[in-house]
Amino acid sequence: MTRAVCPGSFDPVTNGHLDIFRRAASLFDELIVATGSNPSKNRLFDPEERLEMLREACVDLPNVTVMGFSGLIVDFCRDMGAQAMVKGLRGGNDYEYELPMAQMNAHLTGVETVFIPTTASLGYVSSSLVKEVAALGGDVSELVPPAVHERLTARLAARDGGAA
Ligand code: PNS
Repeated sequence: MTRAVCPGSFDPVTNGHLDIFRRAASLFDELIVATGSNPSKNRLFDPEERLEMLREACVDLPNVTVMGFSGLIVDFCRDMGAQAMVKGLRGGNDYEYELPMAQMNAHLTGVETVFIPTTASLGYVSSSLVKEVAALGGDVSELVPPAVHERLTARLAARDGGAA
């Protein structure tokens, strides 16, 4: 039985993430998508909302489970009995960011990181760009699942309304 963890903030989950989940799910018997609650980062959605969006988005992926985690990702991987972590790579910047984390995680517990290159047509999609574009009125409906798009639109409208 092979089990991998795909960790991230997923604030919110995008079609780029889903592409990686689908492809990772075909490489391992089980994939756990794990969203962290790093308090140092400014999030649009709280951990419970991010979990709900992930669960809705992964409903058609039978060997994918969605869970929250706190603390070190290597400890979560050990607790879950996962042999590997999966990360998507859009390009060189992602590699520069991910490589030291992969090396640190291997140093800490020996857990390996498997990098999957993002499908080229989704290489420009990120949660932060999706939020920025949507906040400024751009159309991101093709870049996130429909349920995420609905929540994103509602959250930004509520935030802007609240700020007025
Ligand atoms: O989507 P992100 O923000 O790039 O995800 C980063 C995440 C959550 C995967 C990373 O910050 C992480 O693994 N956090 C858990 C804390 C931890 O283990 N830190 C040491 C990493 S070497």
